[in-house]
Amino acid sequence: MTKTIRTALIGLGHVGRGFLRILEEKEGRLAGEYGLRFQVVCVADSSGVAIHAAGFDPAALRRHKLGGGRVADLPDYQAGISPAAALAEIACDLLLEASPVNLKTGEPGLSVTRAALARGIHTVLANKAPLVLAFRELHQIAAANRAGLAFSATVCGALPVINIGRRDLIAADITRLRGIFNSTSNFILEEMTAGRSYADALAEAQRRGIAEADPSLDVEGWDTANKLVIIANSFLGVEAKLSDVTVQGITAITQADLDHYASIHQHIKLVAEAVRTGDGYILSVRPQPLPIEDFLAACRSWEMGIEIHSDLYEIMYHKIWEAEPLPTAAAMLRDAVNLMKDHKVKG
Ligand SMILES: NC(=O)c1ccc[n+]([C@@H]2O[C@H](COP(=O)([O-])OP(=O)(O)OC[C@H]3O[C@@H](n4cnc5c(N)ncnc54)[C@H](OP(=O)(O)O)[C@@H]3O)[C@@H](O)[C@H]2O)c1
Repeated sequence: MTKTIRTALIGLGHVGRGFLRILEEKEGRLAGEYGLRFQVVCVADSSGVAIHAAGFDPAALRRHKLGGGRVADLPDYQAGISPAAALAEIACDLLLEASPVNLKTGEPGLSVTRAALARGIHTVLANKAPLVLAFRELHQIAAANRAGLAFSATVCGALPVINIGRRDLIAADITRLRGIFNSTSNFILEEMTAGRSYADALAEAQRRGIAEADPSLDVEGWDTANKLVIIANSFLGVEAKLSDVTVQGITAITQADLDHYASIHQHIKLVAEAVRTGDGYILSVRPQPLPIEDFLAACRSWEMGIEIHSDLYEIMYHKIWEAEPLPTAAAMLRDAVNLMKDHKVKG
């Protein structure tokens, strides 16, 4: 028997459209293997919210956005309603949040996430801002209302860092963790080493849909720091905030720096690090020259990776190649399917 999952999708950019594409391509597989049919009943972009209880056609919606259309142009557009107001009212089982990171207010992601969890609506985030600003509060709302909250897409796209940390390191004491969490800056550094300009490499990351809507988050190190904060809260057992992380990006690195380190067989990488101290962790993000045989130095181009040192599991190394946003959309699907397996769905 197939269960219909009434789904709200906030953000119809690279990731949101990727999710629609997966629904188009994998509808039969999702029904056959997992007994699930995702019915998109509410969507939002920067122009507003549209609600269609019978479900939007994912292919038509994706074509509409790809053709430059706005949600406000859809017949089901609801003037004057915010995503949070919509989620406070509509019949819905699942929220997928893929709007841009806003570290000042967290909006629109923070309010819509609060509204959904308060009604027991399972929530999957690709947007890091709600977690960076309100990790504990959102988990409390979720627990109080028996809502699932999953966010494996927020850290290193489809690399299941959060799942590994929470599920597969049982009873581990993590002594040190280091990683490359931002593929835009990793790609820029590598391309610059090969002689390409910073601006040209960044433009390619933007063209591919990998860069953040505000690319200063990538190159100034904040995206990496956001991911470190999410990791710290979700499996290092500390309530870290962004202000607890020392952050330095890649914007001051020159061609001469890259050439110098290349000549001594080193690569400069933007490294996130958590180092265990007596009662917590020192958290940092900064460019580091690394010998070419280092695991992180060998994370090239569109790769991201993490190295986790612990008392029980020795040293784990994980990495991914992600040159387009589709794997992040797939990570949202992975979270959604797992939440639906773990929780009963009404309706
Ligand atoms: N791209 C990746 O590879 C990747 C990887 C991991 C995580 N993420 C995260 O996933 C999220 C989405 O990324 P993306 O690449 O899809 O971004 P994007 O291409 O910039 O798309 C953002 C979407 O959000 C919409 N939006 C903007 N302001 C809004 C508002 N106030 N209310 C509702 N919708 C609003 C935009 O509307 P318009 O269409 O009208 O502009 C657009 O549809 C971000 O938080 C990002 O950090 C992305």
